[in-house]
Formats: sequence, structure tokens, C-alpha cells
Amino acid sequence: MKKSAAVFQKRLAKHHDELRWLYMELYGNESMFAELTSQMYEYYQARKISLKNRDEKKEAHPDWFKKNDMLGMMLYIDNFAGNIKGVQEKLDYLKSCNVNCIHLMPFLDSPEGRSDGGYAVADFRKVRPDLGTMEDLAVLTEDCHRKNMNVCMDFVMNHTSEDHEWAKRARQGDGEYMSRYFFYDDYDIPRKYEETVPQVFPTTAPGNFTYLPEMNHYVLTTFYPYQWDLNYKNPRVFNEMMYNFLYLANQGIDIIRIDAVPYIWKELGTSCRNLPKVHTIVRMMRIIGEIVCPSVILLGEVVMEPEKVVPYFGTVEKPECHMLYNVTTMATTWHSLATEDIRLLKQQMDAVNQLPKEYTFLNYLRCHDDIGWGLDFDTLKWWGMEEIPHKRFLNDFYTGKYEGSVSRGELYNDDPVTQDARFCGTTASMCGVESAGFEQDEEKLEAAVCLDLMLHAYMLTQSGIPMLYSGDEIGQINDYTYKENPLKREDSRYIHRGVFHWELEKKRANLSTVEGKIFHGLDRMEKIRRQEKVFDASASVYTYDVHDDGILCIMREKDKEKFFGIFNFSSSDKTAWMQEEGEYENLVTKKTLEMKDVQIPAHTFIWAKRK
Ligand code: GLC
Repeated sequence: MKKSAAVFQKRLAKHHDELRWLYMELYGNESMFAELTSQMYEYYQARKISLKNRDEKKEAHPDWFKKNDMLGMMLYIDNFAGNIKGVQEKLDYLKSCNVNCIHLMPFLDSPEGRSDGGYAVADFRKVRPDLGTMEDLAVLTEDCHRKNMNVCMDFVMNHTSEDHEWAKRARQGDGEYMSRYFFYDDYDIPRKYEETVPQVFPTTAPGNFTYLPEMNHYVLTTFYPYQWDLNYKNPRVFNEMMYNFLYLANQGIDIIRIDAVPYIWKELGTSCRNLPKVHTIVRMMRIIGEIVCPSVILLGEVVMEPEKVVPYFGTVEKPECHMLYNVTTMATTWHSLATEDIRLLKQQMDAVNQLPKEYTFLNYLRCHDDIGWGLDFDTLKWWGMEEIPHKRFLNDFYTGKYEGSVSRGELYNDDPVTQDARFCGTTASMCGVESAGFEQDEEKLEAAVCLDLMLHAYMLTQSGIPMLYSGDEIGQINDYTYKENPLKREDSRYIHRGVFHWELEKKRANLSTVEGKIFHGLDRMEKIRRQEKVFDASASVYTYDVHDDGILCIMREKDKEKFFGIFNFSSSDKTAWMQEEGEYENLVTKKTLEMKDVQIPAHTFIWAKRK
């Protein structure tokens, strides 16, 4: 046997029984399983030598993605640099941002105006023509690898675009293809589903089904009407989607973000979210990756409450996703800023810090989506914050309606029934950079920059991997031009999906500008984070009580090194009440300080390490 075949066989042997067991449990179909394993071998054979070498290296260091030098940035190819080749030309800029992992937002072929920001894929093997070709992508990933950068992409497996080949054939009435989706010839079953399935886009795309008059059928569309949910009860769907996954992995992708993963299995009479079989599928996907392309890791997009999120890590013995978004912490961070009360954030961090160290979260302040106020309202109720009025307060606060609020942004899917609006805006606009700039108020601008940096410092202190949102590194504000585009104006998420302003980026060299202050502030922190041992993934991380609900304090410890991150979430100057022995160094200013009743001005932070 050739060496390479032996490597595959060895990995297959390790996982075969479990994979077969799971597959049979779900599908009971021997020949489809045989097809799957033989295709896995084909994709393994097709994998470039350079990627196989990468597999071996990363297999030997399976914790490669947890290191404290990991810093991600998510960006839209067209907004950032026009096309894939443009991104390649900008890799040095990304390196200068200390970024070593780029998440390229959806770039596969998707019909204009019916794309949900690229999340309605018409062809999993074709790049959107205006962005380039698959070849360009493979060239880009190769270049990234040479520069020690990783590339992440979305794998939208819950649904396809209505323009996908399968959907087109299904629309023509071809039963084979109809069985890959959920079709009903009257509204009886859809009606039953509607009784238990919540809505994702209650305002922009109400309901979970779409009527297709030309075929007189209803089709399940959890998201937009042009996004048809795939039926994973059909093994053909699972197999083909796994081949697509492996095909994309073979283009040199390092991190596969599994989009909307909780939704992929449906069962009548349930919420069609987080069903047990979703976990069977994710576990199989993990195994398939480990056999064919073990350097590729899975990032699960699970925008759910914490007890629903954690199961997507699987167990330590039978892992599912390598990484998950720390979504509740993100939403709770913004809640803490608006309320100037960190109690819930502290609780949330305590819960995360108690999880096994193997579980890695991806931390972020903003991403391409809205912020849903998925907070722990059972706890907040005890503190006098009731769900509906509190969500209203948060939305008023961040849209700037609330007296004294400096934030700017817009509501998203403002649902009159549940009164459950979500929020859109960039970090800088939420911190007051936009309003201060408009008012030309230098003092307010200074305060906004300070807040923006404090929040980033907090994000960089959490355990897990930080992910920046493109534009945040120079404090880019909301972009309202989407309103002029009829294809976008209904979707306020485009307010924070504007083009990257290279003319502003040029200002980062000047330290008296917003761009310069934010860029260099972040740069300083990112370098500290990658140099200091206390930021190692294996460090112990705890919250530390400083007897003031406006101040969050995090302690990190590693090999006798001790670090405190103190973050003032309130708009007044405060004291962190603490008494720690010894001298400390402020890692940012390099000044010596004592950790005794530390003075901390409004919206600022301290990163201090024991000398
Ligand atoms: C994910 C994406 C979101 C998209 C949805 C449907 O939640 O982040 O932007 O609308 O999936 O694909």
C-alpha cells in the first residue's frame, strides 16, 4: 500500500465503527455508507500534498487554533478589496493588524438580490463570478498558508438557494429532487409545523413556508423564501453535502463555519431547533473531517441560549465542533455597558470558565449579524429587569433614543407581536464615535475611542479566540447607503456591512486621529496578548470581585504569573476595591502600580501583571 493510502486507512480504522454506527442509526443504508467512505477516499486522494503536509503538522499539534497568537478578522471580500485577488494583495495589511485568521464572508455563487448576504448558495463549487474563481481561492489559501494565516469560510448546510440545481429540478416536479427538500401539496402539515416552530425573520420573512403557485406546493423555508431547507432525512442530501464540504476543504480552507447548525434536522411537533439528530450529523461531519482533512476545524454557529450552545462541543471523548461563538457573552457585554451593571456578565463568565478547557469559544463584539438580546432574563427579573421593557430599553439605548445615549444604529426585525426587536450597528457607532464625529465634539470623541478600546481589551481578555470585525480596527462607523439600494434596504444588517474605507485606513499612521488611536491601541493589546504567558489557552481564568457592580475584574494565572484585567463598564470614575500584595506592571503603559483600591476612570481598563 502507498504511504498516503496507509495514512487514510489508519485514520479510517480509528473512526470507522463509530461512523458506521451513527450512519446506520440515521439512515440504515449500507450502500450509501459504502459510497460515502469510498468518496472520502477520493477526496483524500485529490487533496494537494501541501495540504496533506498541513494535515500531518496540525494533527501533531491539535491545539494549534487555541494559541494566544490567534486573532481572527471577518470580512466581506467585495467590501474589503473588490475580489479574491484584491484580498490577496491586502494580506500584508491584515498581517499589520496582527490577524492570522481571515473569515471570508459568504462568497459562493448566490443570486443577486436573493442572497441573504451570500447565505443562499446556488452552487457550492462555484465562486460568485464578480469575486473570482475557485482557482483564485486556492491560490489565496496557499498564499495565506505561506504567510502563516488560516482561512475560514461558511458552509451553509441548512438550505440552498432556490436557484440551486436541486431546487430547480424540484421545482420542475422531479420527485428525486423534491425529496431533498420539504414539499407539501397542501397546507395541513405546514400549519402543524407553524404551531411549534418559531420564526427567524418575523418581519422580513414571516412564516416558515413558501407557497410555489406554479407547482401548487408549499416548501419549507425557515429563513428567507428563497432559502429552501434541505432534508437531511434523505441520505443523498447528507452524502452530497459532505462531498461539498470536502471539496471546499480541498481548496485549502482551514476553518469551516457551519452556518445555522441547530436548524438542520426537522421533526413535526418540535421547535425544529437543536434536535438530537443534529448532533449525530455534526459528530459524523467531525469524524469525516478527521479522516480526510484533519487540519480542518469546525466552527459552529449556534446562536442560542448557553445550555443549548455547549452541547455542540460534543463530549471530550466524542467531540463535535472545535469552536463555538460566545454569543451570550457578546450580547451580555452590550447589556452591561448600557446598564452599567456587570453582575450578569460576571455570572456568564463564571459559567464559561467552569467548562472543560478543551472547549474553545470564539469571542467577538460585533459580527455581520444583528445583536439579539438573548440574555438570561430569569436572573435579570430578580434584579428588576423584565424581558420586554428591558429589551425596549436596550434598543432605545443603542439607537440613541435614550436620554444621554451616544450610540447610533438601527433596529432589525422589530416584531410587533413578540416585541422582540434586535439591533444593528458597528462597534464604533455603538461606542459613540459616530455621534461625537457628527457633533464635532472632541471630548466626546476621545471618550468614545476610550470605550471602544476598553471593550476590545475585555474581549481580548476572555478565554478563547478573539475575532475582529473588519473596519473595527480603525473605528469604522455605520454605513447608511444600503437604504439607497432596493436589494438591501429592507435588511438593516447592511448598516454594518459597508465598504471598507481605505482612505480612512491611511489615517491610522496619525496618532491624533480616531483611526490612529484605535488601530494602535488594538495593536498594542494584541501584541501583549500574544507575548504574555498569562494569555495562554491553558491559563486559569476567574472573575474577581471588586465590590462595585460597574467594574468587571478578570484574573488570569499561568505558571505563577498573575494578571488582572479591570474594566470599568460605567460612565463614572470608580475605585476597584481590592487588596493584592506585591507590585504590578501596567502592561499597556509600562508603569508600576499596586493592586490596592485601584482608581479607574469611566469606560477605561487596566491590564496589570505581577512583577
Ligand atoms: C446565519 C447567518 C445569517 C444568515 C442565516 C441564514 O445565521 O449568520 O447571516 O441570515 O444564517 O443562512
